[in-house]
Amino acid sequence: MLDRYDTPASIVAAMIAAVNDSLSGPIADFAVGGGNLLRAAMRKWPTLDAIGTDIDRGAIGALRSQHPAWRLGQADLLNRRSRDACRVLRGQHGKVGLILINPPFSCRGAIRKKVGVFGEMVECGTATAFLTEASLYLRPGGQMVAIMPAGSLCSQRDREAWLMLSTKFRITPLDSFGLRVFDGACARTMIVHLERLFEGAPEEQTSPISRIRTRDSVHGQHVVCVTAVRGQLPMHRALISMNGVGVPLVHTTCIQAGRIANTLGVVVNHRWTVHGPGVLLPRVGEPRRDKIALLRNRTPIAISDCIIALLCRSLASAACVQQRLIAGWNLVEEAYGGTCARYITLYSLADVLGQLGISVVPDSGTKDWVNSGSRTLGKRMA
Ligand SMILES: C[S@@+](CC[C@H](N)C(=O)[O-])C[C@H]1O[C@@H](n2cnc3c(N)ncnc32)[C@H](O)[C@@H]1O
Repeated sequence: MLDRYDTPASIVAAMIAAVNDSLSGPIADFAVGGGNLLRAAMRKWPTLDAIGTDIDRGAIGALRSQHPAWRLGQADLLNRRSRDACRVLRGQHGKVGLILINPPFSCRGAIRKKVGVFGEMVECGTATAFLTEASLYLRPGGQMVAIMPAGSLCSQRDREAWLMLSTKFRITPLDSFGLRVFDGACARTMIVHLERLFEGAPEEQTSPISRIRTRDSVHGQHVVCVTAVRGQLPMHRALISMNGVGVPLVHTTCIQAGRIANTLGVVVNHRWTVHGPGVLLPRVGEPRRDKIALLRNRTPIAISDCIIALLCRSLASAACVQQRLIAGWNLVEEAYGGTCARYITLYSLADVLGQLGISVVPDSGTKDWVNSGSRTLGKRMA
């Protein structure tokens, strides 16, 4: 059995919730295993056809008796001859409406697979190779929701594959999950949504991955660029609006489990606002990795003076920055000074960011390194 970790109910639910509603054509899982994902999908879209394949004959046999209406077959998705020999896969290239997939990761050692992405051969890790082979079955407008190793989108190993995929798919990284979400497996994971673009459609301008390629690549290296913004509104000075007119205020207490859980009403005396995509982290307070939050939304917010915002050029870059800060947590934590009241300066944060492959760049509007009123960092770096 290869990576037979059944998909836990919480992740199945998150993956189903990630599917955009307009759905037609069959639903497929090419690593169907015990069938959790396909079962959940068929509960939601019972009129659509189900296709399930897996390398494991035993798993397919068990599913045949449970779900006689599903089209099931044994196939090694990473092997062309095996795919060609599988009856249920025949004729399905470019036809499937939705693929749900929790591929085998098998990244022990640095396993590299060679896959063809629309005529180009690229090398990548097992999970990305699996996703790439699966993607060829999607029809234009079709979607795939995949659970992937958390670092895949920003890994050097998978970079070429994602760049090729970004020419044919709109790629959106969604939720990420910590260790031990899968029974018996120890891997950080994330959900990625892909939508196949229609042929001849103008190149997707907002694809987060294309933006990584065009703007976040410095001398061929994958460096993510951010603008650092220090919040300036002290909580005791915040004037909360009585009539709802103002800007939502975010303080460190609003950040829970890596996301902005709530806001503290709207304020009227902010001097400026920030908006996503980006990452928020505490400037002051006990350093905690679950306080590194993804700022997804483009709605402007005011941040308290206890928060630093790292503004990014795309959601994928922001997710990458969040992951790198979490992965390099020891470095980040060390950069906080103070004993009782811990704090981090923009300068020491920029230093850590540099070590994690994240560059602080001037804000495109203000051409300033930081948007905080403090010029110290700009002078040091310029
Ligand atoms: C994580 S499990 C899938 C879980 C399942 N989709 C669910 O809904 O819970 C991964 C599955 O990939 C299958 N697998 C591993 N390598 C494969 C390959 N090369 N081709 C097809 N299936 C493979 C394993 O047999 C296993 O059932």
